[in-house]
Amino acid sequence: MVEVSSEELLLWIQNVNKEEDRDSLYLLIDLLAGISRAEINSLKINPQKIINMKVSLDSLSKNWTEFIQNKKPIQYLSGCCYWRDLNLEVNRHVLIPRVETQQITDIVLSLISSSTKELLITDLGTGSGAIAISLALECSLWKVLATDIEQNAIDLARKNFKKYSNKDNLQLFYGSWWQPLKKYAGKIDIAISNPPYIPLKVYENLAISVKNHEPQIALNGGVDGLLHIREIIKEAPKYLKKDGWLLLENHFDQAQKVKTLMLHSGFERVEIIKDLYGIGRFTIGRYK
Ligand SMILES: C[S@@+](CC[C@H](N)C(=O)[O-])C[C@H]1O[C@@H](n2cnc3c(N)ncnc32)[C@H](O)[C@@H]1O
Repeated sequence: MVEVSSEELLLWIQNVNKEEDRDSLYLLIDLLAGISRAEINSLKINPQKIINMKVSLDSLSKNWTEFIQNKKPIQYLSGCCYWRDLNLEVNRHVLIPRVETQQITDIVLSLISSSTKELLITDLGTGSGAIAISLALECSLWKVLATDIEQNAIDLARKNFKKYSNKDNLQLFYGSWWQPLKKYAGKIDIAISNPPYIPLKVYENLAISVKNHEPQIALNGGVDGLLHIREIIKEAPKYLKKDGWLLLENHFDQAQKVKTLMLHSGFERVEIIKDLYGIGRFTIGRYK
């Protein structure tokens, strides 16, 4: 721990943050130094107070420069990120889980009438494990099977789960989409995926903070963005139970196409669900 007076920290904030992004600066201090924005606000009335920071002001300055100059996301600089009520470890092998994806957990919870029932849930392309972990923590009777094509993501998701649970109701599998789940064919109650869905041309023009730092394999969805979504939907009938649900996150303009793909693959009650910004971000259907 590094001891710093409140005054020093407040002065540092004032000096470093001329006109740049204040929210990002507070996030950096929170994730790297362990001092929340609320705490910083309270220091303003107590400038003599000594605080204990996880890193020095010098280290904060270096990381802030890296953020400003190289556009490296603060979550990668600090190695962690807030998502729902979790603080997950992240690294360059996994996507930083997004705010809009948090809704997936709520949608799944709204489908389940009783938490006393055993369920088999899959999270295809789990990355840091965000979706899978949030569901496995909801109920130990639910068995969550998560897959990813990136072994480093599997390792990280396992570590993230262990931080919150000593149960074994999350199992992680290396491999492509459904392929590692052959022995669960026809048994899955709810399948979820937030797959790579960015169309190639859009991917090529993404902001540097995303394109230069987040894994291409987590974002690039091929020419029309639907390469992986098509594959997941095509194979879903082999793995879902009759009446099982498939829930996909998609790009802002893909929901109608995803809906059509699901209807052509034997799904019914296919619905588009809007995210908090009013965008048709999720498509859900029930396998007949
Ligand atoms: C958009 S990220 C989503 C990560 C995480 N589920 C989330 O919501 O933050 C897509 C994930 O799919 C994985 N992925 C890409 N291709 C895959 C494949 N063929 N099979 C399984 N996972 C794949 C990537 O490694 C990445 O972790």
